Amino acid sequence: TYVVTDNCIKCKYTDCVEVCPVDCFYEGENMLVINPDECIDCGVCEPECPAEAILPDTEPGLEKWIELNAEYSEKWPNITEKKDALPEAEEFDGKKNKLEEYFS
Ligand code: SF4
Ligand code: F3S
Repeated sequence: TYVVTDNCIKCKYTDCVEVCPVDCFYEGENMLVINPDECIDCGVCEPECPAEAILPDTEPGLEKWIELNAEYSEKWPNITEKKDALPEAEEFDGKKNKLEEYFS
């Protein structure tokens, strides 16, 4: 499975949802997550994210993101069409540790 990680927060470019063949992205206010039960591990979304926020869950150190994607994909609504990035996307792209302050 693939997971959305820190750098999506406050950027939310949404290019990822356009390419996902199984529409398994879910939308919070400031970030998207992937439903691990629906993701077919195709990897198509990874290079599409301008913020490089999507990673395979086999990478080390992703435990909290694996949990967070699983938890919030059950709570948030499905998103299947690209929309405008958040207005502050450029400013926030690359900022560190966005989870603590800006997750929603
Ligand atoms: Fe969708 Fe494929 Fe990305 Fe999984 S890896 S979220 S199935 S595009
Ligand atoms: Fe987030 Fe990247 Fe998708 S910033 S919304 S994971 S394209």
